Parts: sequence; structure tokens; C-alpha cells
Amino acid sequence: MNDQILQSADDPRYRATVLIKRLLTEQGVVHWKKYTVAFLLMAISAGCTALSTHLIGEVINQTYVDKNVPGILFLSWITVGLFFVKGIATYGHTVMLSYIGNRIIANNQRAVFSKLLHEGLKFFSERHSSEFIARLSTGAAAATQVINLLVMSVGRDLLTLIGLVIVMVVKEPVMSFFAFVVAPPAFIILRKLVRRIYAIARTQFHGGTRILETLQETLTGIRIVKAFTLEETMRERFDRNVAAVEYEANKMARIGSRASPLMETLGGCAIALAVAYTGYRVIDTGADPGQFISFLAAFLLAYEPAKRLARLNIELNSALVGVRVLFEVIDSPPTEPSDLNMPPLKVEKARLTLDDVYFHYRADENILRGMSFVAEPGQLTALVGPSGGGKSTVFSLIMRFYDTERGKVTIDGHDISGVSRHSLRQSIAYVGQDVFLFRGTVRENIAFGKPGASEDEIVAAAKAAYAHDFIMTFPRGYDTPVGEHGLQLSGGQRQRVAIARALIKNAPIILLDEATAALDSESELQVREAMEHLCQGKTTLAIAHRLHTISHADRIYVIEDGRAVESGRHDELLDKDGRYAAFYRLQLKQQEARPPVAAPALS
Ligand SMILES: Nc1ncnc2c1ncn2[C@@H]1O[C@H](COP(=O)(O)OP(=O)(O)O)[C@@H](O)[C@H]1O
Ligand SMILES: [Mg+2]
Repeated sequence: MNDQILQSADDPRYRATVLIKRLLTEQGVVHWKKYTVAFLLMAISAGCTALSTHLIGEVINQTYVDKNVPGILFLSWITVGLFFVKGIATYGHTVMLSYIGNRIIANNQRAVFSKLLHEGLKFFSERHSSEFIARLSTGAAAATQVINLLVMSVGRDLLTLIGLVIVMVVKEPVMSFFAFVVAPPAFIILRKLVRRIYAIARTQFHGGTRILETLQETLTGIRIVKAFTLEETMRERFDRNVAAVEYEANKMARIGSRASPLMETLGGCAIALAVAYTGYRVIDTGADPGQFISFLAAFLLAYEPAKRLARLNIELNSALVGVRVLFEVIDSPPTEPSDLNMPPLKVEKARLTLDDVYFHYRADENILRGMSFVAEPGQLTALVGPSGGGKSTVFSLIMRFYDTERGKVTIDGHDISGVSRHSLRQSIAYVGQDVFLFRGTVRENIAFGKPGASEDEIVAAAKAAYAHDFIMTFPRGYDTPVGEHGLQLSGGQRQRVAIARALIKNAPIILLDEATAALDSESELQVREAMEHLCQGKTTLAIAHRLHTISHADRIYVIEDGRAVESGRHDELLDKDGRYAAFYRLQLKQQEARPPVAAPALS
């Protein structure tokens, strides 16, 4: 997706103004009631600030000019009240904005996640999963940040500034004019910094993604990292990524703050001018000191919001990078759009056929070329052949993770491309070589096969999968948590939990992809018994690594170079003395050479 980002660098859809407009209309406007309340509270708070500067002037007059003690006390009370109101209003609008912000974050996270669920496998095989983690976290938060920046700038800073400017102009019109002269040059210089900030923020985002990538790879592959003593390699990789981001962050800080010295100096000049002129007026012409103090207070207080407003563009642009990253995900057309409007698959006998199927992952590299075979209802059909022949690809096509290039896959004569994916996948139970268990308990993992399954069903499935006994040996039984990859269970145990999950689904078609290939002979025996339960009366398609595990199949297809080159029963194929017989003899010989080990892989 990095390429995609580079390509769309000047995409008009992602220009700052467009992004802001879209954010406000799509995500901000729905909260207009809350925003109105927040604005009102901010106006109250701004009013309090302006009034307080007026009060300070009054206090000075009462003290030094009128020498009025009750008046001073009265003003003290008013001050207390004013700041109390300001405190309440500030609390109110801060909480209000946080509520809206958190809602926007949550909505965006949901949007990105459901978007991901509608992507096909191709989409994921082209990207690193940590990219989504980065997009989800950065993007969702950035949307809120931008909206709040705008609301706060307009609501808090602009209103405060207006209030204070009114005080300034009322108190010292001439001086105010001088104070405002410094503003334009400051703005012009700030504008120049913005473009660079935007570019740096993007680099920073990509650097951050690479940090996540390395972290995630190291965690998932921790066994390999340790076994191959790759710690140093990984550390170096990580160091490089971290250093790059650190460098960009420092650059960002430098450029972002480059405005500060300028702003401070200009501000200082303006204050000095004001002090000199007004001080002269008070001393020389006997003007009212309260007026001077009010003006000075308003001026000093106006400085912060003015500075924030001047920097708004900078802040906004670095946050907009995140927003763009979010919209890029949301906008890309789903690669596996919902097809629930298609008719559902109606399975009767569950006869599965592939009819002259062609398929490729990458152009001009045909993986399947004229693949045809039949899996008869209630029978065990086996696919064997050298690794890379396209067997697993056949399963992906049956589950419609991908669509065929030519030819069709049918179930009971219905072309599966004409039915909803949901109904198709509901009719299939799949057990692969790599078992994936979700974070949760053993019970939950079995129940994933049939959401809402009863306890009895779960136990029955576990028993049929020969998993019940070992589950009961755990102190916490079915409540035993299994980790991200089910690391607490042995390979055979994981596999039997997966079979229980497939059993409880009770689907008419079963796909087994080398489900016993990773197991030792002992657990293989138990898993095979579990699988016999699973397959009873079902249309079963099994990819086998070791030929002896499927020698009893009703029909065996030898898959080579993307098509079925031979088929028949085990003994028929041996009589034929073709490819199958050759494989068989090879495996037998290897087995004899190393008798205690289970039959080695075919390829
Ligand atoms: N997601 C993928 N993207 C690109 N090529 C793939 C993908 N999956 C498998 N292949 C390629 O397709 C060929 C067949 O793979 P596969 O169906 O897994 O074979 P088998 O299961 O028979 O070992 C292999 O050459 C493999 O490199
Ligand atoms: Mg395979």
C-alpha cells in the first residue's frame, strides 16, 4: 500500500480542504447538538476571560485612583464568581468534546474493521497485517484530532481572541492598532512551514508502520528468531526503523517549532511598544491607569490563543495525514463485497465437481490448467501429488477465496459463483494443516464452529474428535485458555480441537488439507480416528501428504501441474503402474530406510 500512497500523493480527493470538509460533513455534523452546547460553553468561557481583563483595570482604578475599599471587596467577589463560571464552562466543553471525539474514534475503528472483513485473500496476501494496525490506530484518532482542533480553534481560541480584542480596542484604540501590525508578517512565515510539516508527517507514519511490522514478525516468529539466533538481525532491523522515525520526529519538532522564536520576538516588540506608549500616556498626560492595565492584560492573554491560531495550520496538516490514511482504507473498493443478495446454496446430496478449471494468482503463471474431478456424495475423495501442484489452491477455489479464471466449480450442479459466499462457506467444514485457535477458552474455540452451540453439543463434538479426554485432564477443563496460536496445546491436541470445531458445524462437505501432516504417528492415529467421525456420511475431500493415510479412499486423484493426471482406487492405481504407483513405491522405500519414522513427505 506504500506504493498506493505514493501514487495518490497528489490525489485531489485527499487535499487538505477536501479532507476537512468531508470529515466535518461525514463525521462531525451528526453531533451538531453536542457541538452547539460545547460552543456555547466555550463562548461563556471566552466571555469570562475578556471580562476578567476589564476587572483588573477596575481594581487598579479603585485601588490607586478612588482608594475605595468596599469597591475592591465587591470586585474580588465578582472575580471569584467569574472564574468559577469559567471553570464550570471549561469543564463542560472539555467533557463534551471528549465524548464526541471518543464516539468518532469508535465509529472509525468499526468502519475500518468491517471494511477489512470484506476484503478477499488476495488483498491480505499483498500487505503486512501491521499496516492495518497502524492505520486503524493513527487514522481513527486523527479524525477526532482534526475535528477537535477546528472546534477548539474556532470555539475557544477565536472567541477568546475576539473578546480580548474588543477589550483592547475599547480601552486603547490607538495602541491596539500598533499591536495588530505585527500579525501579518507572522502569518506569512508560518504558511511556508506547513507544506514541509505535511511531508514529514507522512514519512513518520510509514516509519511507524515499519516498526510495527518488525515487532509483529518477531513476536509471531519468536521460535524461528530464537532457533536461528536471529536476535541480532531483528534488533538491527528494529534499530534502523526506530532511528529513522526518531530522526523524522526531531525534524518535525525543529520545523514545527521554528515559528516560536519569530512569534516570541514579534510579540515582545508589540508589548514593548504598548508599554512605552501607554506608560508615557499615564505618566505624562495623567490618563487612567486602569485602562492601561486592562489593555495590557488583554494583550498578554490574547497572545496565547493568537499563537495557537497561527499554528493551527501546522497542527491541522500533521493530523490530516492520519485522516487521509483512514479514508484511503475506507474508500478503496472492497475486494470481496457482500453478496448476500445472491441466492443461497441449497445442498442436497453434496456432489462436488470441478469442471475444466483454470486459475492463476499472478498473470501468465497458470496454477490450475484444466482441473477436473468429482467428489461423490458420502465418499472420501483424495487429492495427492507433488507439492506446488495446486491442491490447496483447489480448496481455496471451492471456498471461493478466489474465483476461477475459466471453468466452474459446482455443488449438486449449482455453479458456486452464482450463490452467496456466506451460504457456500456455511456448507463446508475445513481443517487445515496449520490450526488457528482464537484467543479464548477451549470451549469458545469449539463453539466458533457453531455460534450459540449448547454445552452438550460442544462436549459431544469434543468426544467425537477424541479431544474430550485430554481437555478433562486440564485443571480448568473446557475453560482452559488457549493463546494466540494455541501454544499451550500440542500439535495433535490443537488439531483435535480444530476437528471438534469442524464437527460441530455439521456441514455436508468436508475439506481436509494435509490435516495430519504435521503430527507424529501416535497423535496421527488419534486424529485419524477423530476424522473418521467427522467424515461419516459426508462428502469428503482430503489432500494427503502420506499416501498410506488415504489408501482406503473411494477415489484418489493424482494432481500434477494444475490438473488431475490419474484417478482410481488405491489398488487400481497400483495396477496401472503410473504416477501414483511411482510415488507409492518411493514413499515405501523411504519408509523402509527409516522404519521408526512415519512415512516421509511426498515432495
Ligand atoms: N497466495 C498465493 N499467491 C501466489 N502464488 C501462490 C499463492 N498460493 C499458492 N501459490 C502458488 O501456487 C502454486 C500451487 O500452490 P498450492 O495450491 O499450495 O500447491 P499444493 O497444495 O499442491 O502444494 C505454488 O506454486 C504456489 O507457489
Ligand atoms: Mg498445499
